[in-house]
Amino acid sequence: MAELIAATVRSKPRAVLGLATGRTPETVYKILGEKHRIEGLDFSRTVTFNLDEYIGIPAEDPRSYRGTMEESLFRHVNIKPGNTHLPDGMAVDLDAECRRYEEKIAAAGGIDLQLLGIGLNGHLAFNEPLSSLTSRTRTKSLTPETRAQNATFFGGAENVPSRAITMGVGTILESRWCIMLATGESKAGILREAIEGPVRSVVTASALQMHQRCTVVVDELAAARLEHKEYYRWVFQNEPEWLPFRPILSR
Ligand code: PGA
Repeated sequence: MAELIAATVRSKPRAVLGLATGRTPETVYKILGEKHRIEGLDFSRTVTFNLDEYIGIPAEDPRSYRGTMEESLFRHVNIKPGNTHLPDGMAVDLDAECRRYEEKIAAAGGIDLQLLGIGLNGHLAFNEPLSSLTSRTRTKSLTPETRAQNATFFGGAENVPSRAITMGVGTILESRWCIMLATGESKAGILREAIEGPVRSVVTASALQMHQRCTVVVDELAAARLEHKEYYRWVFQNEPEWLPFRPILSR
């Protein structure tokens, strides 16, 4: 994943990257920081938009997604602070902030590559079950399951904010390239539902089936329950459409 992002930044220095928080992309950001330090990977013209932010947690708080991104990526590379965007979860007028965020993405020319994780309940960003598959950036109430998933960062699920601003499923689907990363056996069941199950708003990640250019990057544990796993493996190894990515993905 880090190689794919690095290749994108090298070929298009003004690339607009959509970024995600959570445990899954942490290693990706660590490798990107190393690539900047060791190989001089240049982020000076890169623009970023994160998927979501908690409501009521100030940017200076390390538990905010702004704080998380500063710590895991931004301060380790030469990205311009003004080029990094997250929704403002402290905005007085949250609906206006959501509209402003959509406008900023559009003004930047749209997102070239959107990095995504998948929640244990199948959410994309904070698009919790039953989110409209055409939704735009807006506020959402978090499910108890999601708050439990993030409890360790807040010392208990009851301390996790109950609301967030999130890009909508429709916003995400407008990205030119969606890449979803899933690792570990806890994701195996929901990954199968998202990839091979029906498209349905109860599992918002299943909306990626409607995207024309979506790549799902998995480890063997997360892939364990995919019914057509051997076919995907065969395609990756044999089909010419994968040729541009194969040297990057198989490193
Ligand atoms: P995780 O979260 O990377 O911490 O598993 C992913 C998500 O909830 O979208």
